[in-house]
Amino acid sequence: MPATIYFMKGDITELEVDAIVNAANNELILGGGVAGAIRTKGGPRIQEECDRIGSIRLGEAAVTTGGNLKAFCVIHAASMEMGDVTTAKNLRSSTRNSLLRAEEKGLKTIAFPAIGTGIAGFPMEDCATIMISEVLEHLKSRSSLEKIYFVLYDDAALKTFEETYKKLTARPAATEKN
Ligand code: APR
Repeated sequence: MPATIYFMKGDITELEVDAIVNAANNELILGGGVAGAIRTKGGPRIQEECDRIGSIRLGEAAVTTGGNLKAFCVIHAASMEMGDVTTAKNLRSSTRNSLLRAEEKGLKTIAFPAIGTGIAGFPMEDCATIMISEVLEHLKSRSSLEKIYFVLYDDAALKTFEETYKKLTARPAATEKN
């Protein structure tokens, strides 16, 4: 059964899914934005595990516990270096590697934020094009994933992602009320 991609507005740390993806830096130091919400709601264990992993290659993705979050685990997508910005190349590769980490664990449900579009200053429309096309590419081959959520933080971002999905697939976007 092919996976379904959903678009919704909300706080990604509230989702009860197998994994939520963190908009991480490659030092795996949880700062503000998505990472800050994960740190606050997930508790200290997540940063402790990140510290044990240490820094990862730019564009890579690492898995930790979900701590006190409803999500089973957190996949940290390193699309930027601390204090630097996200590039298209590193956004693409960290999205792809997050999907590979999910496959390695046989996960069924995963939620992505709009990686790079906050502190890292990446344009929302370019982010939507890159992240959605990476997911569509990934789903061309067999996957354990059944539901993939894009969790946007405001109406404008949600609209951009839904419109981009329509452009890329000529299909209307599915919205999930979580
Ligand atoms: N749920 C969903 N989306 C959120 C949430 C949330 N709780 N909080 C913020 N966002 C949105 C932002 O509005 C933005 O559109 O997620 C997008 C990514 O923003 P950031 O979290 O700032 O991530 P990014 O721009 O990739 O910067 C990452 O910032 O916090 C540090 O440690 C982090 O170094 C890393 C960098």
